[in-house]
Amino acid sequence: MDDQHGILMDTLNEVRVQLLQGAAREAVGAKLEQLVEFTGMHFACEESLLERHGYPGLQVHRLEHQRLMNEIRQALDHTQHGQNGDLQPLLDFLRRWYTVHVETQDHLYGEWLNARGIF
Ligand SMILES: [Fe+2]
Ligand SMILES: [Fe+2]
Repeated sequence: MDDQHGILMDTLNEVRVQLLQGAAREAVGAKLEQLVEFTGMHFACEESLLERHGYPGLQVHRLEHQRLMNEIRQALDHTQHGQNGDLQPLLDFLRRWYTVHVETQDHLYGEWLNARGIF
């Protein structure tokens, strides 16, 4: 899971660099699509792991994942429909969200699993 978190942050940073360099909207869109795909995969992995072990905080965790997916899809929508709204604030939001989520919610289940000798 930690490896997947690394890949997610790397992808977010790549989008950030693209924006800073003024990359074409299509290129940013393609990268965001990759992010949506990978994030969906990561969330599904996490949720099935937590489900398998009967993690009590699963519902709350799942809701957070759904909220984030909505945000990313919205960002992707902006790029695909050529809206000129600035993507930067949205990206900053995503980065903050990921960081906080990984450091709090993901950290919590990590400890819970550790305490049960699962990892
Ligand atoms: Fe995660
Ligand atoms: Fe998570």
